[in-house]
Amino acid sequence: MKKLIAGNWKMNGSLAANEALVSAMLDGLGGKAPASDVALCAPAPYLAQLAGLLNGGPIAWGAQDVSSHESGAYTGEVSVGMLRDFGCRYAIVGHSERRQYHGETDTVVAAKAQRALAGGVTPIVCVGETLAEREGGQTEAVVKRQLAAVIHAVAHCTSEIVVAYEPVWAIGTGKTASPEQAQQVHAVLRAQLAAATQHPERVHILYGGSMNAANAASLLAQPDIDGGLIGGASLKAADFLQIVAAAT
Ligand code: 13P
Repeated sequence: MKKLIAGNWKMNGSLAANEALVSAMLDGLGGKAPASDVALCAPAPYLAQLAGLLNGGPIAWGAQDVSSHESGAYTGEVSVGMLRDFGCRYAIVGHSERRQYHGETDTVVAAKAQRALAGGVTPIVCVGETLAEREGGQTEAVVKRQLAAVIHAVAHCTSEIVVAYEPVWAIGTGKTASPEQAQQVHAVLRAQLAAATQHPERVHILYGGSMNAANAASLLAQPDIDGGLIGGASLKAADFLQIVAAAT
C-alpha cells in the first residue's frame, strides 16, 4: 500500500501565503507524482483556491471538518455535498482540537465520518489520548472507544476510512511519540479494524503529532504506520516535501 502524507494547515493561511506554499510544493515535486499519496487539508474558505491550484496534479486536497447533516438550517456548517462540488477527496473528522474546543463527542464524530463516506469523501478519523489518559494507563481503551463509534456507524464501509492516531500530548508540542509507542497503538487499531473488516490492510493508519522532517523516516518505517497527518511542518514546503520523500 502507498503511504499517505496529509497536511493539516489548521487555521492558518491566506490567499497569498497558500499560493506561495502550494507552488513551492509543486515545484519541489518537479511535476513528478510522488511514490506516496499526498494531500493538503485547508480551512473551508480556501478550498476553492486549493481546488484551482491543485487540480489534476499530484496533490489531493481535503477539508478539516464536515457537517454531520446533509443540508438545511445549520448556520456555519459545510456539507459534504458542497465539498464534493469542488472535487474534495478527504475530510478530517474528530480532530482532538474539535473534540476539545467544540465539544465533539464520539457520536458526533461517527456521524460526520458516515456522512462524509456517504457523500463520496474519505474521512480521516482522528483518535488519540490525552497525557492524563496515557499516564492513567487508558491509552488503548480511549483510542478503541473512539474508533469503535466510527466502525459502528460506517459498518461495512470500514475499509474505506483513513484513521489517524494523534496523541493529544504530541500535537504542536514538539514531543513526538517514539516510533515504538506509536507502533504499539497502531497495532491495536489494526487489530480492531481486522475484527470489523475483511481488509484491515487497506486502511491507512496515519500517525500525527509533531511529525517533522527529522523524525518522519523512523516513524514511517514501523509496520503499521501507513503515513502521517502533519500540522506545523505542512506549513513549510521544504519540511513537508522531506516528509513526503521519507514516505517513498
Ligand atoms: P503538529 O504536526 O503541529 O503537531 O499537528 C499535528 C496535528 O494535529 C495534525 O492534525
